[in-house]
This record gives sequence, C-alpha cells and structure tokens, in this order.
Amino acid sequence: MSLILSIANQKGGVGKTTTAINLASALAKYGKKVLLIDLDYQANATTCMGIDRGSFKYSIFDCFTREAALEEVLLKTKNKRIDVLPAKTLVRGIEEKIIVDFNRDYILHSLLRDIRDDYEYILIDCPPSLGYITTNALMASDGVLVPVQCEFLAMDGLTQLLNTVRFVQQKKKVNNETLTIFGVLMTMLDGRVTSGYQVVNEIKTYFNEKVFQTIIPRNITCSNATFYGVPVTVFSPKSKSAVSYRKLAREVIQRNEQWRFCKKKSYRFNQRKWNSRFRKRRGSWD
Ligand SMILES: Nc1ncnc2c1ncn2[C@@H]1O[C@H](COP(=O)(O)OP(=O)(O)O)[C@@H](O)[C@H]1O
Ligand SMILES: [Mg+2]
Repeated sequence: MSLILSIANQKGGVGKTTTAINLASALAKYGKKVLLIDLDYQANATTCMGIDRGSFKYSIFDCFTREAALEEVLLKTKNKRIDVLPAKTLVRGIEEKIIVDFNRDYILHSLLRDIRDDYEYILIDCPPSLGYITTNALMASDGVLVPVQCEFLAMDGLTQLLNTVRFVQQKKKVNNETLTIFGVLMTMLDGRVTSGYQVVNEIKTYFNEKVFQTIIPRNITCSNATFYGVPVTVFSPKSKSAVSYRKLAREVIQRNEQWRFCKKKSYRFNQRKWNSRFRKRRGSWD
C-alpha cells in the first residue's frame, strides 16, 4: 500500500520542489519505489530530475484535460526506483479547463487509483497557489508535508493552507478517506541567524510533534545541484543538505509505519509501545 504525500505551501521559494526531489531520491536510496508528480507549471521538479522538457510530448496536465492517458505521460528516470509524471511550462488556462469538469476536485484521485499500488511512496510537488491543482493534489493524498522556511513571517499564509486542508478533510470524510498533516518541515535554516531558531520554536508551539526533528540547513550545494539537474543527495551525498534529506527520509518511513500501525489497530498511539517494538530498526538507522 502506497503513501501519497502532497508537498504543499502556497508561498513560493520555501523548498517544496527541493524537498520533493531530494526526498524522492533519499527514499529510493532506502530501497523504496517512488513516483514523483510535478504539478507546478514551472516544471522545476521535472528539470531537477534531469528530464529535458523537450524530450516528452505529454505532461500530467494533459491527463487533467483528458488529452493523454497516464501511461503516455509516465517517464522513467536514471534512478530505476523513481518514475516521474512530468509537468510542462507554458500551460495556460489549465484551471479554466478543469473548472468546467464536473469531477474537477477528484481528477488526480481517479488517475492514481490504478497505479498507486505500483509504488510505495508517491510525492506530489504542488504549485505555489491554493487553486484547483492543489485541491486535486490534496484530494488524492493521504497526507500533506508542509515545508516552512526558517525566516520572519513564516507563519504568514499557513492559516489559508490549513483552511484548504480542513476543506479537503471534510470532503474526503464522505468517502471514508482521510487527509492528515503528515509533517511540517523547517527548511533553509541559517545557523548564523538566531531568528531562524526562534521561528522553529514558534512553529513547534503551534504544530507540536508534527514538526519533523530533521531541519534542512541553508546550504549552497543545494542550489548548485539544481543547476546540474540532479538531487543534492546524488550531486554531493556527503553535503549537509544531503545528510539531512536522508535523515528526513528515515523519519518519513518511520512515521508512515507508525501511521499504518495505528490505523490498522485503530487504537490510540502509544509512543512507549512503539519504541519498544521498533527500537531495533531505529538503532540500525541512527
Ligand atoms: N536547503 C537549501 N539551501 C540553499 N538553497 C536552497 C535550499 N532549499 C532550496 N534552496 C533554493 O531555494 C530556491 C527555492 O527552492 P524551491 O525548492 O524551488 O522552492 P519552491 O518549490 O517552494 O518554490 C531554489 O533556488 C533552491 O535551489
Ligand atoms: Mg517549486
């Protein structure tokens, strides 16, 4: 059973795409089969996975408008464990096209139904907006991962995102499905700037244990990797950002197991029981 995660925050430049590609790459390193869906018109995730935008005919948006089938869009990457549903730039009026679709909020949900079991993790890189595309991503997801940049006014706009999440949660409840806030990821922490740590504390008081222990530091290697069209975990596996993205992947895997375990047993989660049950595995990772 796969876990579908939307990486969403309507603020631009907070590290959504960077997190999507590096988390995909790190999860693949731990043997997981991953599908990366690029839902941003700027197609940054597609480019950063080393896919030339001119090398394919159809993008995921053609599936939204039903001009292409999913199989025609799905691309393999250099990493045999990662497949990509790419985006293309210059897609104009896609929201206008899907607004008339009766099923407009559930298009991605229906598209993924047949292929979701082929993957263990499906990561969706959302656009920096809260329109129909993001609603589609959330509707198709089990959880949302929110990257938040460690800087002043980080909380700004999060309320709107949470309102959208609540709206989707209500709609999903009808079909007996759930959407959880899977985690909040603090990104681009500059160790030299004390206000960064204050932002982390502020976010932690609001989201408590939802905040990942892993914090992604600001690291120039991250931007350089983007330039060469590879995840930083491949470009410079020993760099600070690569190490933190691998740590994040381990946390994601652990939370996923924890989440499934609680869902299956349907009783309240007990951290002590969980620790004693999974301590061995955690030990081998640390
Ligand atoms: N940890 C990091 N350290 C340094 N630069 C980063 C880091 N994460 C992202 N960046 C850079 O910040 C910019 C915005 O990141 P991106 O992932 O594209 O944000 P979003 O998808 O939210 O718009 C990119 O140029 C990226 O290379
Ligand atoms: Mg992006």
